[in-house]
Amino acid sequence: MTTTSSRHVVLAARPQGLPKPGDFRIESAPVPELSPGQVLVRNLWMSVDPYMRGRMSDRKSYAPSFEVGKPMEGRAIGRVVRSTHPSLKEGAVVSSMLGWREYFVSSGEGLNPVDPSLPLAAYLGVLGIPGFTGWYGLKMIGKPKPGETLVVSGAAGATGSLVVQMGKIVGCRVVGTAGTDDKCAYLTKELGADAAINYKKAGDLLEALRPACPTGIDIYFENVGGPLLDAVLRLVNPHARIPLCGMISQYNLDPPDPGPRYLFSMIGNRVLMQGFIISDHLNLYPEFLAEVGGWLKSGRLKREETVVEGLENAPRAFLGLFSGENLGKMVVKLAPEST
Ligand SMILES: NC(=O)c1ccc[n+]([C@@H]2O[C@H](COP(=O)([O-])OP(=O)(O)OC[C@H]3O[C@@H](n4cnc5c(N)ncnc54)[C@H](OP(=O)(O)O)[C@@H]3O)[C@@H](O)[C@H]2O)c1
Repeated sequence: MTTTSSRHVVLAARPQGLPKPGDFRIESAPVPELSPGQVLVRNLWMSVDPYMRGRMSDRKSYAPSFEVGKPMEGRAIGRVVRSTHPSLKEGAVVSSMLGWREYFVSSGEGLNPVDPSLPLAAYLGVLGIPGFTGWYGLKMIGKPKPGETLVVSGAAGATGSLVVQMGKIVGCRVVGTAGTDDKCAYLTKELGADAAINYKKAGDLLEALRPACPTGIDIYFENVGGPLLDAVLRLVNPHARIPLCGMISQYNLDPPDPGPRYLFSMIGNRVLMQGFIISDHLNLYPEFLAEVGGWLKSGRLKREETVVEGLENAPRAFLGLFSGENLGKMVVKLAPEST
């Protein structure tokens, strides 16, 4: 299949508060001829992730800002459809950071071949950065032990759903929070969580958590921030661990909400709270892939993706992260896998 042009998404404007469709623009550009040693990749799947909200602003952060008027970037899985490269042959499936576009030409730098016998979209979710993030944060900071109580916020999303299942594999009591009754039913009926709380309906979060955590909280895997952290801090056990993974409830607020108010509870309880950025730990990716890929292959782990079709709908998919439209990983399908 040959193509002469490719569409991509550019950042049209820096969002104020919650991003809106007008902050994105679809453009088209000719696909260049290949020079020796290059590949043309057609993206099959692309990821939309909460951290991209930070990259849309010009605040200093661990990841560089997107430039206004330039194509956005993010993780994608694509197939090499033309090649003059010595080792990346036509048909190879590769992971890249060149999402938000249909095709791209590359020298091969930054492209990583993936095993096509595993589901390709999973490389953006449970086998990709979100799964790796959950695995690292729970295993290395949460250090779960059988019988401990693990609370996971954003539990029905890409990262949270891996943490919930991993907590059960280890033998923890697992309590998840999510924004709809359907997501809560998914957590208890499909993923094996012991209890789930719809934080939008719960009212007093402390009173909702208390019966779900009768022996207190040993680990809180934090994905959302806001009032839930306050409630958790009032129920933590001595030597509890809090991997600070994300705070999506704050990403569109400038300034962020004040709080939390119960930090002093960490002192007497000797609680460890630790932020982390997964890209600092990429050396552990092969260990993660072996363990979690094994669970996936053996059926021990469930995966879920919410699929939005077409590059033109990628901004809508991204915006949906902030209104909870995804169960599991939000992914955009850009082309059939048979491409
Ligand atoms: N530290 C790192 O290196 C790293 C790496 C990857 C991701 N993260 C962080 O991990 C978290 C989860 O990321 P993900 O990719 O797995 O996304 P995700 O959980 O699949 O999707 C985001 C979810 O956040 C929930 N949400 C949105 N607005 C909310 C709010 N105001 N209050 C509470 N919940 C809200 C929504 O679910 P509900 O329906 O439940 O509201 C939504 O489905 C994010 O905070 C992200 O920034 C950190």
